[in-house]
Amino acid sequence: MNVRITGTGSALPGKILTNAELERLVDTSDEWITTRTGIKERRIAIEGEYTSTFAAEAGRRAMAMAGVNPEEIDLIILGTVTPDFPFPSTACIVQDILGATNATAFDLSAACSGFLYGMSIAEKYICSGAARKVLVIGAEVLSRIVDWQDRNTCVLFGDGAGAVVLEGSEGGHSILSTHTFTNGAFWNLLYQPGCGSRNPATDSRTIDERLTFIKMEGNDVFKHAVRAMEEAALTALDTNGLLPSDISLLIPHQANRRIIDATAKRLGLGTDRVFTNLHRYGNTSSASIPISLDEAHRQGVLTSGDKLLLVAFGGGFTYASALVNW
Ligand code: UT7
Repeated sequence: MNVRITGTGSALPGKILTNAELERLVDTSDEWITTRTGIKERRIAIEGEYTSTFAAEAGRRAMAMAGVNPEEIDLIILGTVTPDFPFPSTACIVQDILGATNATAFDLSAACSGFLYGMSIAEKYICSGAARKVLVIGAEVLSRIVDWQDRNTCVLFGDGAGAVVLEGSEGGHSILSTHTFTNGAFWNLLYQPGCGSRNPATDSRTIDERLTFIKMEGNDVFKHAVRAMEEAALTALDTNGLLPSDISLLIPHQANRRIIDATAKRLGLGTDRVFTNLHRYGNTSSASIPISLDEAHRQGVLTSGDKLLLVAFGGGFTYASALVNW
């Protein structure tokens, strides 16, 4: 059984926050943000917009492309670290919005690797016969857990969602492999300390010490990210007996232009074979790869038979890869 991507979709807030606007919020500059990260602007949810808003719209667009009705979806997996609520799963809210009444739905917390972890699980559901049509979504409203007083992190993140429909097929393009990895030894280098059972939102200390916001040791995370993304990419290539020269397009998690360039360089891939859009969206965590895949597809960048290498890295640490024969 092959597992095919039959539809892609994405949804982003209309509101744009530029580096120039950030200069007025914290002690930073367009020059620093551009040279250290490659980011020029990011999208920010406005009042009344939630993770479920963008997740559902991205999912609706992916289903429209696939020609699949909501009732045909057997499973919805939503990668997110910024759910609408601690519970129920935002995937349940998305199921309701879409009218995907026959779908089992759950959230998956794997930070920036959430979408590829979701693809890996969906692939196994389909191959085992437990599901026929699966909606995998990565969606975040990170702007609600970003500390707008912390220049180390607030310049990096943005909001949005991307989605794919996966279906079983006897032929056609297919997912050749998925690999997921975890290294829990470094969980405290990138995390949100507050609002869980250790530092409850009900404890005034959680608010006073700003524990509800993202904390990151950026420099350490950077070094791990480059090594881990290379490992995940090489595992995908080895498994399929492919060389970097066989890859038509690398679609990496969009965290930092320098991480993407270093990963591509280690793999020996020229920039013409690397998809980037982080200059427009910043780091949208689990949403970054499906947004990129949807944009590449709708821009006509992808040709049948292309070998796409998707690689993610995020808090946990989690990292993952997928090799797709388009
Ligand atoms: O998505 C999941 C994974 N996340 C990542 O992969 C993010 C990984 N990390 C990074 O992308 C980079 O480490 C950052 C972009 C976060 C930071 O870049 P860096 O080159 O590692 O800078 P740094 O943290 O070593 O800081 C260098 C200097 C510091 O000043 P001093 O101590 O040298 O005086 C920072 O205070 O840059 C300063 N700095 C800033 N200056 C202006 C940090 N943030 C800013 C800022 N504007 N926004």
